[in-house]
Parts: sequence; C-alpha cells; structure tokens
Amino acid sequence: MTARSCLAIVLAAGEGTRMRSAKAKVLHEVAGRSLLAHVLGAVAKAGVTSAAVVIGPGQDEVAAEAKRILADAATFTQHERRGTAHAVLAARSALEKPADDILIVYGDTPLIRPETLSRLRAPLAQGAALVVLGFRPSDPTGYGRLIMDGNELLAIREEADASESEKKIGLCNAGIMAFAGDSALAILEKIGNANSKHEFYLTDAVEIARDMKLRAVTAEVEEDDVRGINTKAQLAEAEAVAQKRLRDAALAAGVTLIAPETVFLCADTKFGKDVVVEPYVVFGEKVTVDDGAVIRSFSHLAGAHVGKGAIVGPFARLRPGADLGEGAHIGNFVEIKAAVIEAGAKANHLAYIGDAFVGANANVGAGTITCNYDGIDKHPTKIGKGAFIGSNSALVAPVEIGDGAYIGSGSVITENVPADALALGRGRQVVKEGWASRLRGLKRLGKKKA
Ligand code: UD1
Ligand code: MG
Repeated sequence: MTARSCLAIVLAAGEGTRMRSAKAKVLHEVAGRSLLAHVLGAVAKAGVTSAAVVIGPGQDEVAAEAKRILADAATFTQHERRGTAHAVLAARSALEKPADDILIVYGDTPLIRPETLSRLRAPLAQGAALVVLGFRPSDPTGYGRLIMDGNELLAIREEADASESEKKIGLCNAGIMAFAGDSALAILEKIGNANSKHEFYLTDAVEIARDMKLRAVTAEVEEDDVRGINTKAQLAEAEAVAQKRLRDAALAAGVTLIAPETVFLCADTKFGKDVVVEPYVVFGEKVTVDDGAVIRSFSHLAGAHVGKGAIVGPFARLRPGADLGEGAHIGNFVEIKAAVIEAGAKANHLAYIGDAFVGANANVGAGTITCNYDGIDKHPTKIGKGAFIGSNSALVAPVEIGDGAYIGSGSVITENVPADALALGRGRQVVKEGWASRLRGLKRLGKKKA
C-alpha cells in the first residue's frame, strides 16, 4: 500500500488576550518550546506531506516560528476572525492542491501526540469522509458536544446552540479533525454562519457531510492530549503534563532521576545510558548528555553537550555552545558559554569560561575569569592541554596559554604565554620584617601622651 498524502492545516490566529500578554498565544512555551512548535512537531511526525499555518494579521513572529520548525510550511493570513471554518478557508490555495487526507489542528493544543493524529487519519483509508477527535472532559462546559448514533457521528452542537439534553452529553469535540481530501473543499464551502455567534463553524461540517451521504465518525482520546491553552493557568497545567511525560520517557530510557518531579526537561533533551540527574536541575533547549554523565543538583543547562562520564555541578550553569569532553568536571558556581572543554579538563569552582577552548586535562583554578568582552566585541581565549591556571586569574582575551603552561595565582594575563612557561602578572610581594610590632609600639606611645 502506498502512503497516503496528507495536508495539515494548523489554526494559529489567536491573539492571546486571555493570556494577558503582548505575545501571540501560540508563541508561549511549554517544556521550553512554543505551543506552535509542539503542534508542528507532532504534525511532522504523523506522516504529513505538507503543512499550512493560518495566522492573524501582523503575526509575522508566528509565521517565522512556523518556518523555523517546518521550513516548507506555507503561511496564510485570516484577515478577519469569523470562525474556525473561515480560518480553514484562509488556506484555500493549499486545500485546492490534491491530498488524500486533510488534518485540521489547533495551534494551542501542544500536548497532541503524533500517534493520535495518525489514529484520526486511519478511518479515512476505510472510506470515511470526516473523522472528529472526541474526548470526555472533567467539565464539558464550553465545548461542542458530539451527537452520536452508535459509531456514526450525526452532528456537533456548540454549547451556545445546544438544548438542555444535548448539554448533558459528556463526549466533546476536541477541535481536531481529519477530512478526506476529495470532499473537503466541497463540504467547507457549504458552511454558513446561521448560528447564535454568526460565525462560520467548522463543526457544521459533520451535518453537511451527512447530507451529502458521506460518513462521519469519531476517534476518542484522553483529555490531557487535547488540552487547549487560553490562560496562564492552563499553560501551567499543560507544562505539568508535558514534564510528567518527559520525565517518564527519560526514566523508561534508563536515566536515573533521583527526584523526577524536581527536574525540568525540554522536549528535545537527549540522554545517553546510565546518566544520573540529581534533584533540582533545569534543562533548556538543545541539551545532549552522553553516557555515564552526572548532573548534580541546582544546575541549569541550555544548548550544551555533556560528554561521556563528565560531572556537572552542583550549581553549574552551561549556556549555549558549552561542549564538555569525556570526563570533564565543571563544579559549583562555574559558568560556561560557547566554550569547548576537552576531555579530562577541570574547572571545579567559581569560574567564568566564555568564548574559549580549554585543552585536555587542563586545570582551571577557582576564581578564573576569561575576560572575553571589551564592551564592544567578544574575543577568544585558548588554554592549551595540561595547562594550569592558578586561582583568581583574569585571562584578558584575545589570549593564548600554551600547552602545559602555568599561570601564577592572582594574575592578570594580557599577553600570550608559551607552552611550558610560568607567567605571573601581579604585584610583587614585599615583606617588611618587624613592621607590625614597630607600629604597635608607636600607637602605645601616642596613647600615653594623650
Ligand atoms: C472550538 C469548537 C468546539 C470545540 C472546541 C475545542 C468550533 C465552532 N467549535 O470551540 O466544538 O469543542 O474548539 O477546544 O469550531 N480560530 C481562528 N480563527 C477564527 C476562530 C478561531 O484561527 O476565526 C482558531 C483559534 O485561534 C483556535 C481555534 O481556531 O486555535 C479554535 O477557536 P476557539 O475560538 O478557541 O473555538 P472554541 O470556542 O474553543
Ligand atoms: Mg478554544
């Protein structure tokens, strides 16, 4: 059987008014990624062959986010907010291209799984014209109700238009639908706005399909998978569900999470085998942790790679571009940014290493700072393999410390240091024997006079 082609239309025109935010609703984040990125990620994994994203007027940032996730996603603008069917038709030129299946997904349901989208498409291959995703919310208020006759879906009734007995139906419209490509446009074009809100309801597609003697059916899913986000409280609820899923997946893959509920993961966090993550660790986007590494408590990692058997933290911060080699040690209150720390190198306490290269087995002492910024530009620091940087040194970039060189504690290093040399860049120590007792003698004399 050849794979069926599929167009996904993602409705993302919400303005986020109820989020009390200047930011578009679908750009808010769950598990370190935008709501839209989650939805497009699920869409891409569900065997979709083309994607169209419907945005509101002036929502250039939403269009840019769509392109960042799916480079070939087409974007369409719905100029006036006149209902969900009106929004789908904003992508008319995409709908006019032949596709076996058409998926309609809301951009504010970040917990949707690719498996659910595939399950929704399955009845289309058996001749259904329309499949609606249903769920049984703990509180159905506000949702469209699914009116069934056995396995057949007869209609969807919006809350505002529902009778008292229809309001008692627990099975609700999740808002996600799959249409057979050959009849989708004909159905959508027949949708009118004769309802209490004068909106073009996508949900009317069910009755229209049935009038056209076409089959409409449902697939059911858990409430968590289709939670729609309209408020910050709902955003936090979705975050909790997303974190639980990510933690469970990490545990199932063999990661040791000592207190899983205190570890915050990103949708793209990658772990090798036998990794241990201690309590209270936060992972931002794009982190990879290789086999046997240990991430100790209160560390924050983003855009970082932690090599095999490396130790990070407690209280470490790895910023984008931090790349730790095998067995590297990054200890407490050490910040690493855009720096390669080669195998076996150590920075165990209180340091800032930015725009740098630290060679294998080098030792960076407590209080070392790479002074990478001159107020205008950033400059690189190179520390050769096996070098020893004495505590409390400032390495003023651009600067290179040769392999095996020593830097005396408390140095300010402004010039390159050759391999195996000792460099000292600090005031010379002066010792004055007996000076303190002479001072005390003078003070005593002064007091007697007074
Ligand atoms: C919709 C469904 C309802 C379902 C519920 C599930 C309709 C008529 N109703 O109601 O049956 O139970 O979702 O959450 O479809 N949008 C646009 N342009 C518009 C209108 C909406 O892009 O003109 C987008 C919104 O940004 C949102 C989605 O479509 O992502 C759904 O719109 P919303 O207003 O939230 O519909 P509900 O009233 O929740
Ligand atoms: Mg809604």
